[in-house]
Amino acid sequence: MKQTSWEIESIQSQSQWARVFSPSNIALAKYWGKRDVKLNLPTNGSLSVTLKHYGSFTTVEFNAAFKSDELVLNGKLESPDKLLKVKRVLDEIRNSAGESRFARVQSFNNFPTAAGLASSASGLSAVTLAASHALKLDLSKKELSEIARKGSGSACRSLFGGFVEWKRGSRSDGKDSVAEQFRPADHWNLSALIAVANQGQKNEASTGGMEHTRLTSPYFSAWIESAEESVALIRSAIDVRDFNKLAELSESNCIRMHASAMAAFPAVFYWQPATLEIMQRVWALRKSGVRAFFTIDAGPNVVVITTPEDSPKVQAELARVSGVQLLKTQLGEGARSFEASEWEGDR
Ligand code: PMV
Repeated sequence: MKQTSWEIESIQSQSQWARVFSPSNIALAKYWGKRDVKLNLPTNGSLSVTLKHYGSFTTVEFNAAFKSDELVLNGKLESPDKLLKVKRVLDEIRNSAGESRFARVQSFNNFPTAAGLASSASGLSAVTLAASHALKLDLSKKELSEIARKGSGSACRSLFGGFVEWKRGSRSDGKDSVAEQFRPADHWNLSALIAVANQGQKNEASTGGMEHTRLTSPYFSAWIESAEESVALIRSAIDVRDFNKLAELSESNCIRMHASAMAAFPAVFYWQPATLEIMQRVWALRKSGVRAFFTIDAGPNVVVITTPEDSPKVQAELARVSGVQLLKTQLGEGARSFEASEWEGDR
């Protein structure tokens, strides 16, 4: 098999396939902590925005000629140990369809690998949707969200566009722990600037980081105690489009999540000097009346949410941080069948 292209080379008669695009999403109220590791059930609810231009283009093909499941990521055949999350999703879809064939997943992320942009969220939601389309399953978005969650928690949010809530749920089987859109993307025309501050260091992956925090951080219980209230307040600020309130609440949620991780033993510490420099520049911008706030996932990179009008000022300011690459986008739709014309052009 040629490994330099993510395109399917030969579609054989025994095969069924589908191709989708699924976007990345960025949490404004973070998921940090699992109440069930196997099912990826969260200790708290979370809220996210779906990014318009960045995500995964993914093809899933089921073929009787395949001898095992395969993942080709950005043109490179991955080793079997990298397939665990993908397999979890494929197995769920196969069970639902009564399918026994293996699958080849070819996925291409249109953002730099170092961008730290929840590639598991876009990737695993894309595999869920493509695999279900390939086998012609008629699953609701709620059912797709539940399957994507089992691959990677944050993936359950990428099925939906705009402003999305993933509920904690209380059932032990996770049936009530799924995402849903609570406002469409056009509810509020926001821009996102992704400041890639990665200086080559490898981070503790989110699953390991959050589990280590849960087990060893004396601040984890405090994080959980305030997390649900934080979700409700952030949702209200979005509902009424109160930018300053959203800014303060989201930054606080992000810093509390990181504080709980920093207090783990040994520490889970994601920030680098550039991370703090960007945070301080964003605070200075806001003080001067520019609408901008930051959020940070399990890595050193910062996503700055702003408005289309203020975006050029934020861009100019962040461009002054040395070694930082800026990616610009807006809010958009959730995972869908792939059509190139939908995403090219208007960045
Ligand atoms: O879905 P995971 O296992 O990649 O975890 C995501 C964790 C954060 O990105 C830090 C927060 C979030 O809600 O996306």
